[in-house]
Amino acid sequence: MKAVVITGFGAEPQLIDLPVPQPGPGELLVRLHAAALNPFDWKVADGALKNVVEHAFPLVMGSDGAGVVESVGDGVTHFRPGDTVYGQFMNVQHGRGSYAEYALAREDGTIARTPGDLPFPVAAALPTASATAYQAIEAARLDTGHVILVNGASGGVGQSAIQFAAHEGARVVATATADIAGRLRDLGAHETIDFTLAPTAEQVLAAHPEGIDAVLDLITQPGQDTDALTGLLRPGGTFISTNHAVDPDALAAREIHGVNLSNNPSRAELEALADLAAAGKLRITVDAEIPLADAPAAVSRARSGPSRGKTVFLTR
Ligand SMILES: NC(=O)c1ccc[n+]([C@@H]2O[C@H](COP(=O)([O-])OP(=O)(O)OC[C@H]3O[C@@H](n4cnc5c(N)ncnc54)[C@H](OP(=O)(O)O)[C@@H]3O)[C@@H](O)[C@H]2O)c1
Repeated sequence: MKAVVITGFGAEPQLIDLPVPQPGPGELLVRLHAAALNPFDWKVADGALKNVVEHAFPLVMGSDGAGVVESVGDGVTHFRPGDTVYGQFMNVQHGRGSYAEYALAREDGTIARTPGDLPFPVAAALPTASATAYQAIEAARLDTGHVILVNGASGGVGQSAIQFAAHEGARVVATATADIAGRLRDLGAHETIDFTLAPTAEQVLAAHPEGIDAVLDLITQPGQDTDALTGLLRPGGTFISTNHAVDPDALAAREIHGVNLSNNPSRAELEALADLAAAGKLRITVDAEIPLADAPAAVSRARSGPSRGKTVFLTR
């Protein structure tokens, strides 16, 4: 099978031939039709988890994918060949990922059936970005009329988060450059602010001098200052970082609930997300559908280039 791999941390991704893996007990083999790119994919390739878990090389890149169950190993009861499924396939210890024609998943892993009418590229775009958005908005504890800032709203997580927050009845303030502000308003953002014109926190404070209720921060990296953004929150507010950039204890002293979120969707949550997407209630922008062979170039563009939705690799 064709697969996009790295041969070591920081190495350039390359397309190679690998044997099709065989499912062991409790595993299923999925013929992938689509895989989606997430920033975490290249962060892992750069060594983000190197002190956390052993990696096997060559390491197939990628987490998210969608396809059809080809075969199942002993003991698998929930899935059968022919099921359409999607989920997270990254398993760095075994060198496995989703940028490939086939991938293995554990039956008890992050994988679920999809409704048959959900296009594979849309299904592949969901597991990390939309599940993270869903879990972040749950963590934000929003009520009708609450104001939430989504910092980094123009990307994969942000576009889903806008929709979930608006569904909760919150007033959504979304960061956006001019080219995408209209799309984000269409998804449910009530206000957009262009972070390239002035600092985000200054603009939010000018519009909401009384403070806001929640910040979903998709931008600040560990070690970077969050004071300006946390300073926007009223006592009792919630600050959620997807990059482990907050110190919850320090925030607790200021009566702010800090959350460093790691997505971990259940099968039930994945099934619910797929149903929402199939029904058109969760709108996913697949910005680019790219042949798997062009994935190495697309990964290097994604590191530095703009993100306006999801990039999907066609693996069949
Ligand atoms: N912890 C978890 O479980 C988890 C899960 C998913 C994602 N994440 C992390 O969450 C972050 C967002 O993920 P994603 O998939 O949404 O990434 P993405 O698709 O690359 O989106 C990021 C967006 O932020 C915009 N942006 C860049 N600089 C900005 C700034 N200073 N202010 C406001 N917006 C800015 C980008 O616009 P331009 O393209 O124009 O620069 C892009 O549209 C990533 O760091 C990712 O690693 C964590």
